[in-house]
Amino acid sequence: MSTMISRAKRILAPIKHLAAATTVLLGLGSIAASLYAAEARIVDDQRIINAAQQEPGNWLSYGQTYKEQRFSQLTQINKDNVSTLNLAWSKQIGDYNMRMQGTPLVVDGVMYVTNGWSVIYALDATNGEEIWIYDPEVDRSYARLSCCGPAHNRGVAVYDGKVFVGTFDGRLIAVDANTGEEVWDVDTFIPEGLGRFNITGAPRAAAGKVFIGQGSSESGHRRGYVTAYDADTGGVAWRFFLVPGDPSKPFEHPEMEMAAQTWGGEWWKYGGGGTAWNSLVYDEEFNSLYIGVGNGAPWPREIRSPGGGDDLFLSSIISVDVASGRMNWYYQTTPGDNWDYSSAMDMTIGEIEFGGEMRKVLLQAPKNGFFYVLDRNDGELLRALPYTDGIDWAERIDMETGRPVENPDVVYEVKPQWIMPANGGAHNWEPQSWDNDLGLMYFYYHDIANFYSLDEGFVETGEYEIRERGLSPGWGEGEYRRRLIAEAGPQPDSQAYIGAFDPVTGSYKWRQPLETEINGGVVATKGELLFHPEGNGDFTARDTNTGEVLWQYKVPGTFRSTSVMTYSVNDTQYVATLMNGNRAIDLGGTVLAFKLNGEASLPMPEIAEATVPELPTTEFTGEQISSGDTLYHSQCASCHGGIGIANEVAIVAPNLRLMTLQTHAEMENIVIGGSRAQQGMPDFEEAITRNQLETIRAFLVTQARQLQQFQQSR
Ligand code: HEC
Repeated sequence: MSTMISRAKRILAPIKHLAAATTVLLGLGSIAASLYAAEARIVDDQRIINAAQQEPGNWLSYGQTYKEQRFSQLTQINKDNVSTLNLAWSKQIGDYNMRMQGTPLVVDGVMYVTNGWSVIYALDATNGEEIWIYDPEVDRSYARLSCCGPAHNRGVAVYDGKVFVGTFDGRLIAVDANTGEEVWDVDTFIPEGLGRFNITGAPRAAAGKVFIGQGSSESGHRRGYVTAYDADTGGVAWRFFLVPGDPSKPFEHPEMEMAAQTWGGEWWKYGGGGTAWNSLVYDEEFNSLYIGVGNGAPWPREIRSPGGGDDLFLSSIISVDVASGRMNWYYQTTPGDNWDYSSAMDMTIGEIEFGGEMRKVLLQAPKNGFFYVLDRNDGELLRALPYTDGIDWAERIDMETGRPVENPDVVYEVKPQWIMPANGGAHNWEPQSWDNDLGLMYFYYHDIANFYSLDEGFVETGEYEIRERGLSPGWGEGEYRRRLIAEAGPQPDSQAYIGAFDPVTGSYKWRQPLETEINGGVVATKGELLFHPEGNGDFTARDTNTGEVLWQYKVPGTFRSTSVMTYSVNDTQYVATLMNGNRAIDLGGTVLAFKLNGEASLPMPEIAEATVPELPTTEFTGEQISSGDTLYHSQCASCHGGIGIANEVAIVAPNLRLMTLQTHAEMENIVIGGSRAQQGMPDFEEAITRNQLETIRAFLVTQARQLQQFQQSR
C-alpha cells in the first residue's frame, strides 16, 4: 500500500508542471488522488479541535490546533536523546530575497508550506520530495507596498479537502489538498479599504468559513478589515471593519458608529490603519473569532487623529460571533496608539484557575511590553503584567480601569527621544508555546529602543503628506532624524531573551539572554524540550525546566523571525523549521526537518566579508547628498536597511554601498525601469524622478566612500 502511494505521488507531481497534459493524465491523477485521500483524510473542525491530544503527530492549523497553543505531546525526541538529533532532509523553496516566516502544516504525512511569494509546496514530510506545487503567480509589483521586504507569507490553512493561502498581492485562494488544482481565487481588496495591500498572514478555517485580514498599513491610506469567506465557494459570509470610515457616509455596521466617537480630526483621509495582518483565532467553545488588530497609521496620534481619543479598534483584541459577524466584546491593549504597538501578535487560548475557578482565557504578549490574560467569555481583563523590564511608554496597566498609565515624561511629541519597546515591539509575531498544565508561556522577546520623533514637515507646517510607496511613519527621516538623535544621545543597549513566563504572577520560571536581537518563534514538547531558531543561524533545543541548552545545529542562513513545529510520520518524530536565505552564498529559503540520528547535511561555505568595490568618481553637492539621504530613508531603507540610523527592519535586499560600477550604470534601469521587479525590487517609475534618483546615488556613493575608508583603515 505505501509503495503504491509513493508511486502515486510521483505520478501526481508532473500534472502541475505539464498543464497541457492535464486532461490526458486526469484519469491517472484522480486514481492517485483517491489513493492519496485514503491516507490524507479530510481535515474538519472536530479533527482540528481534538488534534493536540488525539493525533499529536499532525499539525493541522497555523497554531497547531484552534487553541494555537503550539505545545506538542510528542516525546520520541526528548531531553535524554536530543543529542542525537540531526538533519533528516532539507528542501529549498525560496530565494534569498525572501523572509521565511511560515509555519509548515503536516496532515497525515504531507507537509504544506509556503514561500514568500505565496507559492504552496505539498511535500512528503518524510523526505521533502514534492507532491505538488501551486504557484498563484503573484503580481510582484506589490513588493512596493510591503513594510518589511519583498515577500513573506506565514502559511496556509488546510480544511475540508482544500488548502487556503492568502497571497502577497491580496487574494485568498483555495486549492485541492490532494492535487494542488485551484478551486477558487478571490480578490480580498474592496475600495472601502482604501489602498491595496499585501497579505502575509495565514488564513484560519473553521465552521465552514475561511478568515483573512491584510497588512500594509505603513504604505499610505489603509483601513483594516477582516472577511469571512464560505470555504466551499469563496463567497463573502461577512466583513468586519476595524477602523471607521468617512462619517458623512453610512457606517457599515453599528460597531463603526461607536468607534467613530473615539477618533478626532479627519482620520478617514489617512485611513487610520488597524489592519489584522497576523492573528485570527477561532474558539469553538463560543463559536467566536478573535481578531488581533494592528497599529494606527500614520503612527503618531497627533497627525492621525488630532483631538481624538482611543481610536478604536486600533491595537485591540476583538471577539466576533462567527455566525452573525457581530462583535461580542473588545479589549484595547494600547488606547490611542502612538508607537506602532500592534496587537496583531499570536493569541493563544487555554484555561487558567483564578481563585478556585477555572477561567477560559485568551493570552497575548503584544508589542507594547505587557502580557494580557482576558476572559474569553466577556473580555474581562484578568491580568496585564509586564513581560519585560524595557517599558518606557507606560508605568503599568491600571486594573480598575483596564487602561495603561502612560508615562508623563515620555512624550516624544514634546521631546523626541529613545523609547522602549521599539516600533518592532518587545515581542512581535514570532510564535509562542503554551503549556496549559503548567501555566507557562515559552516565548522570545527583545528590549530594543526606537528613536521616536515627529515628521519634520509636520513639525514645521502642521501638514502631513502621506506617501503611497514606502513607509509613512510620520517620524521624520534622514538627516533631520539623525540630527535629533545626535542631540538625544546614544541608543540604549539592546538585548533579547527567551524564557518560561507565568502570566498570572508576571514572573519567569527561567529566562536566558540570546546572542542576537531578532530570532525565531518557539515550540515546546512533552519531551521537556523547547526548540527555537535564532537569528545567528543556531537552531537550539533547551530543557523546558531550566532553560539549559541541550543541543544546537548551525546553518549558513539566518532564522530571523522564522518558525518551528514538530510532527510525526510512521512512528518517527520530526522537528521542522524554515531557514532564511543568504545572499552572500546564493542560498535560498529552505525547509529543514530533523529527526533522531538523521543523516542529511547542509553545505557550510565560507562567507567572506564583502568589501566596497571600485566607486564612481562623480562629485556631488551637499544639497544632493542631503535630499538623497531623506529619500533613501523614506523609500529604500525598509528593504535595503538604514544607513547611520537605527533601523531594526530585517535587511532583505543588497547593501547599496557595495554596488559595482556596472550596477551604478544600470541603476536607472533597475529603479525606474523595473528591470529587477521579478526579484522583488519594485519599480519606482511613478514615485521617483531621474534627478531624485541621482540624489539617492549621491548619498549612497558618499556613504560608500566612508565605508571604504573605514575598511582600508583596519
Ligand atoms: C520592497 C523592497 C525594496 C525596496 C523598497 C527597494 N528595493 Fe532595491 N532591491 C530589492 C531587492 C529584493 C533587490 C535584489 C534584487 C535581485 O536579487 O536582483 C534590490 C536590488 C536593488 C539594486 C541592485 C543592487 C545590486 O547590487 O545588484 C538597486 C540599485 C536598488 N535595489 C535600488 C533601490 C533604490 C534606490 C530604492 C529606493 C528608491 C530601492 N532599491 C528600494 C528590494 C527593494
